[in-house]
Amino acid sequence: MSESQRVAIVTGAARGIGAAIATRLAADGRAVAVLDLDEQACQQVVDQIDAAGGRALALGCDVADEAAVAAAVQRVATELGAPTILINNAGVIRDNMLHKMSVDDWDTVMGVHLRGAFLMTRAVREHIAAEKFGRIVNLSSTSAQGNLGQVNYSAAKAGIQGFTKTLALELGRFGATANAIAPGFIETDMTRATAERMKLSFDDFLAGAAAQIPVGRVGQPADIAAAASYLTSDEAGFVSGQVIYVAGGPKD
Ligand code: NAI
Repeated sequence: MSESQRVAIVTGAARGIGAAIATRLAADGRAVAVLDLDEQACQQVVDQIDAAGGRALALGCDVADEAAVAAAVQRVATELGAPTILINNAGVIRDNMLHKMSVDDWDTVMGVHLRGAFLMTRAVREHIAAEKFGRIVNLSSTSAQGNLGQVNYSAAKAGIQGFTKTLALELGRFGATANAIAPGFIETDMTRATAERMKLSFDDFLAGAAAQIPVGRVGQPADIAAAASYLTSDEAGFVSGQVIYVAGGPKD
């Protein structure tokens, strides 16, 4: 690998969309920090990247923990090089109708999505400024437009869009872009958990979702990874502050 190999951090990368983005960015030639709550759980994604000839590091870190984030980003800089590509993907759901939603459900979702994205981005900023290059991709959602049972999650995902646009304004002078990907329905453990909460079989839930989507299928993690690959490429340097809906149909 060349000395100028760019270094990416993908949060929530032990499974689902994050794992797909991590393996895709590694295939694109990036050195990738695979970050999730449990370092052991990241190892299988790292092994997969290693087996394909890539370079990766497993990192255990809670993105909502300020000290843990600082230590993790420092470790990436030491072991892989200055991180200038950041994918804020870590996420949780704590769905409930407003009258049943606890303060803990609210705070947990805000903590991971908003505080987490803020802490991670603030920690990589110095590397972006020093390298005069940056690519930040934040995971929003079609739920930003409102979704029953998700006042916490839809508020966080709408917040991510404002966060992204402001990063684009502030970091542009360092050759950095910031964009959000807003996925529609993607087949992962997160949507499997939603099916369980709704007391539906996952297959029925998938079929019902696919019937509502113009392209006639649900999304796969690789669909999101492809968009992240483009937005983090060197050639995407004039695309910034955008929210790209990757949802199998039009959203606005
Ligand atoms: P997932 O539940 O399969 O994976 C999320 C990962 O984030 C897990 O590995 C989890 O351990 C990790 N994580 C949670 N809290 C963390 C924390 N505090 N620190 C570090 N890691 C943490 O979810 P999925 O479906 O892969 O979602 C990834 C992102 O895409 C999330 O931000 C989600 O909100 C967003 N999204 C997902 C959609 C879907 O249909 N699956 C649709 C729209 C957005």
